[in-house]
Formats: sequence, C-alpha cells, structure tokens
Amino acid sequence: MAFDLCRARRETPGCDNVLHFNNAGAALMPHCVLDAVINHLNLEAQIGGYEAAAQTQDAVNRVYAAAARLLGCDAAEIAIIENATRAWDMAFYAIPFKPGDRILTAVAEYASNYIAFLQVAQRTGAMVEVIPNDASGQLSIEALRNAIDDRVKLIAITHVPSNGGLVNPAAAVGKIARDAGVLYLLDACQSVGQMPIDVNVIGCDMLSATGRKYLRGPRGTGFLYVRRHWIEQLEPPFLDLHAADWIAANQYQIRSDARRFETWETNYAGKIGLGMAMDYAYQWGLNAIQSRITDLASQLRRQLTALPNVVVHDLGTEKCGIVTFTVTSKPSDQIKHALSLANINVSVSSLSYARLDMAVRGNLDLVRASVHYYNSEAEVERFCKTLVSVC
Ligand SMILES: Cc1ncc(COP(=O)(O)O)c(C=O)c1O
Repeated sequence: MAFDLCRARRETPGCDNVLHFNNAGAALMPHCVLDAVINHLNLEAQIGGYEAAAQTQDAVNRVYAAAARLLGCDAAEIAIIENATRAWDMAFYAIPFKPGDRILTAVAEYASNYIAFLQVAQRTGAMVEVIPNDASGQLSIEALRNAIDDRVKLIAITHVPSNGGLVNPAAAVGKIARDAGVLYLLDACQSVGQMPIDVNVIGCDMLSATGRKYLRGPRGTGFLYVRRHWIEQLEPPFLDLHAADWIAANQYQIRSDARRFETWETNYAGKIGLGMAMDYAYQWGLNAIQSRITDLASQLRRQLTALPNVVVHDLGTEKCGIVTFTVTSKPSDQIKHALSLANINVSVSSLSYARLDMAVRGNLDLVRASVHYYNSEAEVERFCKTLVSVC
C-alpha cells in the first residue's frame, strides 16, 4: 500500500514551518500528541495536578499497554522513566558486578553508556571489552561469539547509534546472549519508532528508549523494558515509596513489576503524550514506517553522494534514517548554521557522542541529517540544492 504522505504531513503541524531533518534529535510531534499533552496541562491548571491525574488515570495507565504492544512484551515489564539515559542506568546499575566480570560492548556505543561502564569497572573491578566491527562496520557477530566465556556478565550494545546510519545486528547478538545465558541490555533509543522492535525476536533482557526521537513523543519521556524473569533479580540503584513499600519500621518490600525502576513523581502530561505517540506509530505500522524511512534515507544518500565536495559516512550492512556526511569545503557546524538560515534543521555529531566509533571514522564532526516518514522527496531535493548553494 502506498504511504499516505499527505496525511502524515497534514497531521504534523511543524511541516508547515521547517524542513526538519533532525528527527534523531527530536522529531516533530503530530497533532494528537501535542493536543494530549496540552489538554492535560490545561486540566492540571484548571483542577489541580493530583486531581487531573486521578481524572485521567486510564490515559496515564494506557502508556504501559501501548509500550507493551509496541515491543511485544507484557505491560508489567515496562517502566516509564524521564529519558533513555536514566532508563538504561536503572537497568545497568542494578546488575551486581564483581571483580573479573566481563562487560562486552560494541564500537558504536553511546557516550553515556560507556561512561557508566567505566565508572562501574572502576568501582567493582569488572572489565569493559569492545567487540570489533566486521568489514561492513557493524558489530562483528563472529568476534562476539568468540569472546563468550563464563566470565561474561553482560552484553550491552546500541542498536542504532546517535551518529550514523548503522543498524547493529541486535537479533544475532540476542541469539548469542541466549545461547550463552548472558544478560543482554539493548540501547534502542534511536531504533524504537523507526523500525519494528520485538523484544522476543531480538532476545534482549532489557531495553531502553526515549519518547522524543523516532516515536515523535514529547521531550522528557523515556522507558525501560525488563524481561519478567529478571525483574525480581535486579535491585534498582534507587528506591522510593513508589518502587517499594515501607512495610515495617526497619523493612521495605520492592515492587514485583518493572515499575520498581520508576519514581513516584512523574510528568503526567508527558506520559499521556508518550502513550499517544506509541499508539500513533502503531497505527501507521512499524514495517511501513521503516520502509518509508529507509527509502527516503537511501534517496538522500544517493543524491548527497553525487554532489561534489560531499562525503557520506554511514557504515553497516543495514542502514536506517540517519544520514551523516561531511563537506570538504566547510566545517560541519558552519554547514548546520548555513542550512538553518534556509529554515532547514540538521545537527552535528561530534567525537563526544560515541568516541570509539568516531575515532574509527576519522574523528570528523559529521553533519547529521535524519529523516522521518513525514519528510518528502521534495524536501530531499530542496535539501541537496540548498546544500550545494551553501558549500
Ligand atoms: C543511542 C542513544 N542512546 C541514548 C541516548 C540518550 O537518550 P536521552 O537523551 O533520552 O537520555 C541517545 C540520545 O541521543 C542516543 O542517541
């Protein structure tokens, strides 16, 4: 079935204002998400925050079922957390590492995750090991298989890095993790909302994601999936009166569902908006979304590659909606600025986002143009024409 681009653009108010190729930063919200958030904030202002939460309990709780449907898991395996970083942290810092434990990760690992590995390694004596890439630039499955032994405590990788079109082979990693009985934590921050994600197909035990990127939800929202089997074996690094019950003067009992990783206070409007964004993505269909995004990104890569002075830098066998490039005649931040004067949004990926990966790719600041399904072929053409005029 043809993708209904007119509908997608009609339902996205920002499409009238800007050529937005910064979806890997934060995508444009559709009307329904915006309305859901604003309506809840209005209700809070009119009747009080606690009262508004009570009145909209069903919409607030809906987000768990929406996330479960999106990821193919149970609602009890979902925690709603304010961003992907804290969601990931709550899982990672719950793992009881001891000296000699091995943490296996990939070259494209996200900076915040890698900093956490280093901190935990310093504190506990666990070791961080980076599995090399294969010739295509994705995590080498063969090298990962060869690295497995009984000291491997965790495999933690990023599915789609912040700074390139790479899609790491998450399901092949999951097969290795399952065969070896090793915990597997997947950072799916850039992939959820961009492609179908089923935690059972992938075989991950924990998965973190954010609301504002490819899901098109509000900022300050994120979530964590933890497989049922692991929930009660992982003690959250922080507890509060929502995560645990204070059952006697010297005793508490931690919740048995994934909400043990949450805190009591939360952004209710954001939670409702996030649920709405998940349902909206589901309505479009994640296969249709992925194929539309992949198609548009390939067109963009093709047209960029044909331009003089432009070098496209994406790695991997499978590529997604994130397109990175440099212009030989101008630094990337100047390109970003020049494009912004033409009402075009992109971002710049620098070494600090994924140091190991950027080093392999030449330590260059990259222009990141990340497309979504509501972007159009005409925008891809206008983007390339404008780029030529500012190079
Ligand atoms: C791969 C990856 N992981 C994690 C994050 C952090 O997400 P958040 O800002 O929601 O904490 C990002 C943000 O860009 C990312 O690209």
